[in-house]
Amino acid sequence: MKRTAGSVSDLLNEGTTRLKQAGSESPGLDAEILLRLALGATRVQLFDALPYPVKPSASRRFREYLDQRAGGTPIAYITGHREFYGHDFIVNENVLVPRPETEFLVEFALEWLKRQDGSPKRIIDVGTGSGAVAISVALETGNAHTIIATDVSEEALTVAQLNKDALRAKVEFKSGSLLEPLTEPVDLILANLPYLRPDQKHAGIEQEPDIALYAGEDGFSLIADLLQTAPEWLSETGAVILELDPAQSEMALEAGRRAFPEASVAMRADLAGMHRYLVVDRNP
Ligand SMILES: C[S@@+](CC[C@H](N)C(=O)[O-])C[C@H]1O[C@@H](n2cnc3c(N)ncnc32)[C@H](O)[C@@H]1O
Repeated sequence: MKRTAGSVSDLLNEGTTRLKQAGSESPGLDAEILLRLALGATRVQLFDALPYPVKPSASRRFREYLDQRAGGTPIAYITGHREFYGHDFIVNENVLVPRPETEFLVEFALEWLKRQDGSPKRIIDVGTGSGAVAISVALETGNAHTIIATDVSEEALTVAQLNKDALRAKVEFKSGSLLEPLTEPVDLILANLPYLRPDQKHAGIEQEPDIALYAGEDGFSLIADLLQTAPEWLSETGAVILELDPAQSEMALEAGRRAFPEASVAMRADLAGMHRYLVVDRNP
């Protein structure tokens, strides 16, 4: 079939070229997602429509999205959504876009819960952002546990609340720093706190909130503070599972052993074999 000027296919090529020039790592996929958003089309509908012309209003919308993406806006902020642990999360510029490696935090939490006695546990997700970790654990366990999710950012908690409602998760949100909002001990502490140094700012993350990324001059201050206060709030058979920068793994092991000399303290690796998760277990 003869291609029409300004067709879906033409726009897809235009977008891919534009985003490649702008330095996107996945220009073809990004262009496809943005064109689907502009057209309100599924993947199949988009490919069925490749030879057909696009309405000027949709072309305009698509080019606005391309401008945003070429300017460094994450795809998830443009679409307003990101999938995490099989669930659709609302995201905006007030929250970190949940990362695939953080799914392991959920995975390890579920593994730990399976090894327990089956009674409902008290769990805290510190620095919940979009609520991805807390809500995923709640949904994967049939809302069987008491899950508290905290953040210092009220804007982030607003997004997390939207996700909790949309996904029907049982999670209680509290505003405040680290473990300060707690009034009773917990059995499991989960956290993907900010862990970057200010000099680690780079293209691709500059539109995400600083409060979600940076932690003091060494990037480790929040994790260190959390580990220091955790013994007081963790039940006698509880565990702490934290995501961090693999470059901090030695520091994290040391801080973990100092805070919990009686517990099992170990790092677990991500898919690339990097030691990204600290696991402290008082009852391994
Ligand atoms: C790296 S983001 C992670 C968000 C979410 N847990 C995820 O994995 O997608 C860190 C979050 O910690 C929050 N935060 C920063 N400082 C905090 C503090 N002192 N206490 C609690 N939360 C904090 C930020 O607002 C941000 O939402």
